Amino acid sequence: MTREASQTSTTADRARDAKAHAIAKAKAIAPDLAARIGSTPKTPFRGDPDIFGRLVEDHDRHRALLAMIEETQGDSEDRRALFEELTRELKAHAAAEEQALWSSVLRDPQTTDFARHAIAEHKEIDDMLADLAARDMSSSGWLQRFASLKEEYLHHIREEEQEQFVAAEQRLSSADLAHMRDVFERRKKAEKAAAQIEKKIRLKD
Ligand SMILES: [Fe+2]
Ligand SMILES: [Fe+2]
Repeated sequence: MTREASQTSTTADRARDAKAHAIAKAKAIAPDLAARIGSTPKTPFRGDPDIFGRLVEDHDRHRALLAMIEETQGDSEDRRALFEELTRELKAHAAAEEQALWSSVLRDPQTTDFARHAIAEHKEIDDMLADLAARDMSSSGWLQRFASLKEEYLHHIREEEQEQFVAAEQRLSSADLAHMRDVFERRKKAEKAAAQIEKKIRLKD
């Protein structure tokens, strides 16, 4: 095997391990449920040691939680536990991502719009989570509303991985990227410990 080929397989292994690790974290909440996340959009960042690899690992964990909630029935213990975990994960991830990454990206005029776009979608997702938390989990409409959140979130993370992270990476040094990962780790833990489940019906559908 040439050196180049062996490096390629190492990168592929790292990406596969990172994805499996992320799915296992989601599965720990409800081990009997399948996490059918299917194929994930291609990204060069999966398995990277810096901030973007860390963020993609969370995204894969979220993809698994979203898929597992779709396997639940009615107002069940699994649906409650998974939805609470998803809410705390998404809120903590978004807040820590804003503090570690988007705040710096926002200050650079070349990338301001990319950061603004990601942050605006965080608000939208937060509102959808609060709306779902306020609605009856046993009604058949709940899963339909949940499907809209899933679509919105999958769109958000695909766009981050394929557009906003790509643009941000070009403007950041490798020291920035390593430092940002540390900040993200610290902030995510603190934000998750403090995350509150809000309940608020959206006035507009
Ligand atoms: Fe985000
Ligand atoms: Fe993200």
